[in-house]
Amino acid sequence: MVLLKFLIKRNYNYLLLGLIIVTFHQNAFCQDAESIFKKSCASCHSIGGGKLIGPDLQGITYKRESDWLVKFIKNSQSFISSGDVDAVAIGKEYNNSIMPPATISDVEINSVLAFIESKGAAGPKKKKVDYLLKATDENVIKGYRLFTGKDQFINGGSACIACHNVTNVGNGGWLAKDLTMSYNTMKGEGIKALLSSPAFPAMTNAYSNNIMEETEIYNLAAYLRSTATFKVPSNLYEPKSYSKFYFLGFSGFLFLAILFFAGWFFRKKQSVNHEIFKRQLRTEKK
Ligand code: HEC
Ligand code: HEC
Repeated sequence: MVLLKFLIKRNYNYLLLGLIIVTFHQNAFCQDAESIFKKSCASCHSIGGGKLIGPDLQGITYKRESDWLVKFIKNSQSFISSGDVDAVAIGKEYNNSIMPPATISDVEINSVLAFIESKGAAGPKKKKVDYLLKATDENVIKGYRLFTGKDQFINGGSACIACHNVTNVGNGGWLAKDLTMSYNTMKGEGIKALLSSPAFPAMTNAYSNNIMEETEIYNLAAYLRSTATFKVPSNLYEPKSYSKFYFLGFSGFLFLAILFFAGWFFRKKQSVNHEIFKRQLRTEKK
């Protein structure tokens, strides 16, 4: 009120008018996600119409987590400088253009995202993010170590190898299925779902009191993907122990070879009689 009186008194009517328009404008549109989008985003983004200044946002909610999206939209620059891998990547891709921080509330951001999602659902591009999209060799190796019992589960529980085999893993159990190719039918999401609440009685019993951690499940899924897609990291199966094995084998072979050679070398070259005959010759000369 003080401000109002001040503005009227000073005859700043044009400012007052501006103020009224701004507040009215926001009130009138804040419920309507489509108009928020048109007003604050459409200048740089389309939904299904291709790249503008920024990327086409169709299907973005299938590509990114909603937390991520809210952070990015609120202040993309500070999110990018926080070092988030995906944010940095998209920032790089659009090197010269900077998305300004949103001037809308979280609620409005979420309604805009819902609006974008409603458009995306109709498109052919609709696809959820691959659960294992960011899995690295390190995940695979950790998964392998859990699978084989080289590392313990945080909450206890038997190693998968007690019941399952994976080709190359050595001495796996035979109670249950060989899992080398299981990723191909189950995919990452399927393995995750299964391990989060094992559905097979034997497994349910083994893990009912030993729920696996999310990261453990992730690592195991990454490992099973690597065996099914033949993308096992080269150092996974500890080549050292193999080379030790080969070394032992080779030195064994060498030892035997020397033994046989020695046997052949020191074999009797002449008959026993020959020696006696030589001795007799010597005595006759005396
Ligand atoms: C002035 C132009 C501009 C405006 C306005 C703008 N953006 Fe952006 N946006 C960009 C650019 C450019 C990028 C690419 C990344 C970067 O350089 O920051 C981007 C990236 C994004 C991304 C990341 C896309 C991806 O593939 O990860 C999302 C999500 C996004 N914008 C949503 C919005 C929403 C929602 C609004 C409206 C509230 C909005 N943007 C307003 C320019 C803009
Ligand atoms: C106590 C024994 C046991 C243990 C331990 C066990 N499983 Fe199983 N698992 C089973 C049985 C039984 C099945 C049922 C499928 C079959 O063998 O025919 C199964 C099924 C599966 C399947 C589905 C296979 C398919 O293609 O249908 C996956 C994947 C799997 N287990 C992963 C794991 C992983 C990863 C671990 C280690 C965290 C583990 N299991 C530990 C017994 C076990």
